[in-house]
Amino acid sequence: MTQKSTESAKKRILSGIKPSGELNIGGYAGALRQFVEYQHEYESFFFVPDLHAITVAQDPAELHRRSREIAAYYVAAGIDPEKSVIFLQSQVPAHAELGWIMETQAYFGELSRMTQFKEKSDGKEGVSSALFTYPALMASDILLYQATHVPVGEDQTQHLELTRDLAQRFNNRFGRTFTVPEAVVQEIGCRLMGLDDPQKKMSKSNPNKGSYILMLDEPDVIRKKLSRAVTDSEGQVRYDWENKPAVSNLIEIYSVFGGQTTEEIERRFEGQGYGAFKKELAEVIVEKLAPIQRRFHEIVDSAELDEILNRGARRAAEEANLTLNAAKKAMGFVTFD
Ligand code: TYM
Repeated sequence: MTQKSTESAKKRILSGIKPSGELNIGGYAGALRQFVEYQHEYESFFFVPDLHAITVAQDPAELHRRSREIAAYYVAAGIDPEKSVIFLQSQVPAHAELGWIMETQAYFGELSRMTQFKEKSDGKEGVSSALFTYPALMASDILLYQATHVPVGEDQTQHLELTRDLAQRFNNRFGRTFTVPEAVVQEIGCRLMGLDDPQKKMSKSNPNKGSYILMLDEPDVIRKKLSRAVTDSEGQVRYDWENKPAVSNLIEIYSVFGGQTTEEIERRFEGQGYGAFKKELAEVIVEKLAPIQRRFHEIVDSAELDEILNRGARRAAEEANLTLNAAKKAMGFVTFD
């Protein structure tokens, strides 16, 4: 992602975070911090996938609040709305329309293999059909903007593979219409695990609140959650996923928030127990989150955010409609342009 050539001027990023629960630091580590970093090198579109959130039941007032919140996190974390386009998915109708078209290109069998669908539907009653077809809408989100790169956490890579397959399939059938995008996944922080169980992804849907740290957690809450985080009986701060998954997870969190490499962190805590490590880790997180939290509260209910989202939706729609029209034309729909 550091390559600088005339080619890179044409490179485009699109990504988003679903407004389906309070944001935890996993979304920051896997996605948001990448958005902030890459916006300077690439033309960027960051959206709030609110249509994705309703694949499971949402309380209307909560959906409304969380959608604004995700947009506010984007700005608070450092995405510059003058440079990047920030918008709500539901304000750009082309997403739903191309989503339908992509459903016609996706096979039932390939959607059935999506592990996120299996996990989210497992043992549940009343699973919506939209939860099943969700990856086709996700493909539409990406392909509408001709995105070349999609920064995501590890759990989205299967959806990205499907997006690539759908883009290629469509291009082969109807002529070159879509850019085939690549996932951009960081080595460190692409899959933060629960503080209570390093075998389970850190997730807002975990009923144990001690298993995750929220972006808006107060300093004392963060300290408490970390003091209770599971470790192991060895007592050494060593990065070794196979034998020390819980400690390795904490080292990754340290690396994400403190900026040091895993080796630097190992050296820093050599000969010290987990107590000192966890205490310092809490402070590193608190320090990084404080300015984001401050800015978040300033902007979340502001007219400034409305203005950013309005402007973003208009700009996004211009781009999205170009691609949608090209796709419809290629398929044989009657268009008047
Ligand atoms: P979502 O909302 O579940 O997660 C948002 C982003 O955060 C990453 N992430 C994590 N990374 C590291 N550790 C974790 N514990 C962790 N939890 C979440 C996710 O990998 C993701 O990058 N389907 C997407 C939203 C979406 C989208 C898109 C993304 C819809 N259309 C188009 C990119 C492009 C989702 O549900 O992410």
